[in-house]
Amino acid sequence: MAQTTKVREGEIWAVGGGKGGTGKTFITSSVGTYLAKKGKNVVLVDMDIGGANLHSFFGISRPQKSLTSFFEMGASLSDLVVKTELDNISLISGDVHSIASDKITFSQKLKLFRQIMKLNAQNVIIDLGAGSHYNTLDTFLIADRMIVVLVPEVIAIENMYHFIKNSLFRKVKKTLKEYGFKEIVQHIWDRRQSYGINNIKELIDYLKDSFSYIGTILDHELAAFKIHLVLNMVRNNNDILLGASIKSVMMKYLGVPIQYSGYIEYNDAVWKSVRERKPFMLNYLATGCAKEIEVLVDNIVKGREVSLPGGY
Ligand SMILES: Nc1ncnc2c1ncn2[C@@H]1O[C@H](COP(=O)(O)OP(=O)(O)OP(=O)(O)O)[C@@H](O)[C@H]1O
Ligand SMILES: [Mg+2]
Repeated sequence: MAQTTKVREGEIWAVGGGKGGTGKTFITSSVGTYLAKKGKNVVLVDMDIGGANLHSFFGISRPQKSLTSFFEMGASLSDLVVKTELDNISLISGDVHSIASDKITFSQKLKLFRQIMKLNAQNVIIDLGAGSHYNTLDTFLIADRMIVVLVPEVIAIENMYHFIKNSLFRKVKKTLKEYGFKEIVQHIWDRRQSYGINNIKELIDYLKDSFSYIGTILDHELAAFKIHLVLNMVRNNNDILLGASIKSVMMKYLGVPIQYSGYIEYNDAVWKSVRERKPFMLNYLATGCAKEIEVLVDNIVKGREVSLPGGY
């Protein structure tokens, strides 16, 4: 894919993770609300085309504008920003019925990314849909901060692993495409058994060892490939400790550094706020969850991690 140039100062965060129903939209809305409360000018972008519901988390039942106008009428993204009832935070709704997310064309995608990068906000937060479609991965990859939301369940861990693995593989291919190496990477990966390669980390190590100048390029590009992990719906200490094992597994098999940025308890107040169509951080400030969202955001911004007992 051609390079998209970043032309503004604000940060783009993307919230994904593979599995459906893990709390991506809840985290997007709450993180955005907290940043806005701290005085940041925030725009949320709902990229869950076909399953968009970010607007409902702000009590908007039928958004007046949505990405439909971008895809069908060529409207500019900045004209599709809708105010919420909260100060400093607006959103772009992904409530699109005329096009499926996997039918978005390459040029529409590039145009969308260029316009997301130009949005006038200190924080743009993108809510991704479930799954690992390449359009979802590409959107994840434009972010300055890539956030994955995980719940402590085996299927969710598997889905997240595939999501991160596929994002990394796409990043490697995209990086090397510009140097004429994309086909070689795919060729080696397709025959990985005969090369003695077991996982993406070993593929990257092989590429670095075999083509030294590629090593320099990959080192440079992948230095920014850091993932912020959020464990959502935790119910006990074992769930919280899971973050530590995820970190080591991801490093071992993918070579990807994971920042364990936060965890959020399971709390009935969350689905109640969704049912009441009220932004969670507005009405439930006294809950443990709200405090955990604040810690999560502060950790992401300051590059800090969850401190676990026993020196994990
Ligand atoms: N910490 C939590 N405690 C209790 N319920 C939660 C918590 N986080 C999310 N939920 C509930 O789980 C449901 C799914 O949350 P949400 O819609 O944010 O998930 P999602 O990952 O965006 O789903 P999708 O993949 O369909 O977009 C919602 O009903 C929400 O209220
Ligand atoms: Mg969602």
